[in-house]
Amino acid sequence: MELYTTLESILAAPSSTEKIELFKHFYTAYLRGDVTQENSSSIRVFTHSSYHNFCTVIDPKEIVKRQKLGGVRGQIQLLHSIAHIEYSAIDLALDAVYRFRDVGDEFNDDWLKVAEDEVRHFLMIEALLKEFGSFYGEYSVHNGLFEASLNTMSLLERMAVVPRYLEANGLDATPLIISKLEPLKTNPMVGKIIQALQVILDEEIDHVYRGDRWFRVACERENIHPDVYFEIIERHYPQSFPRKVGINCEARVSAGFSADELKRISLVLC
Ligand SMILES: [Fe+2]
Ligand SMILES: [Fe+2]
Repeated sequence: MELYTTLESILAAPSSTEKIELFKHFYTAYLRGDVTQENSSSIRVFTHSSYHNFCTVIDPKEIVKRQKLGGVRGQIQLLHSIAHIEYSAIDLALDAVYRFRDVGDEFNDDWLKVAEDEVRHFLMIEALLKEFGSFYGEYSVHNGLFEASLNTMSLLERMAVVPRYLEANGLDATPLIISKLEPLKTNPMVGKIIQALQVILDEEIDHVYRGDRWFRVACERENIHPDVYFEIIERHYPQSFPRKVGINCEARVSAGFSADELKRISLVLC
């Protein structure tokens, strides 16, 4: 089994079942040391997301506002949006290994481990969706994460935008969702959603941390100061910083953000 041709087929897999089955088979072989590497094969740019044939993709502005979390409909919509993030995150982690071929084995180990986490997160959330009688693909989705991958074709930009911005934003957002669900936790389904979100929150810190590590490696390779982070984010997501609302300081510190960076990210001091 060859690394890049296999990753390409996992990335292009037309269904979640197929993608996850292929990934598990591949990752077992990878951990056993049974995967070869042929760096010279051409690198494909994926023009469509891997979910476009089973999810209706719409403009983020057209996404129907989520109903209140106290109701079943709102809980399903929340789970569906998380399932979509996790499914997209599988592809983002695999795409980093597929695309950035000259970084080295430790880079590959890191992002394949992240992909394994994302597969587990997706399956956990998908199982809850099924308990509700729903499924991934029932609701419309946005293409934000897929577009982020298309817009970041260098290691430096990808690490800044995907783990250090988008996944880091998740570290801020998840505790807020959990706190909204807390008063409803006597409902067994809500209890299960809280548990799943807690697992995701804990493990995402490590993803941002890995992103931080490779972002700094990319800075060293390009001989550029890590402050370039703010220029990159301003270019892709203008006026994101500084935020007037609080951020998850503890998680962001554990994930590698420096005190100076946190001051530029949030007006509320950590
Ligand atoms: Fe995740
Ligand atoms: Fe992640």
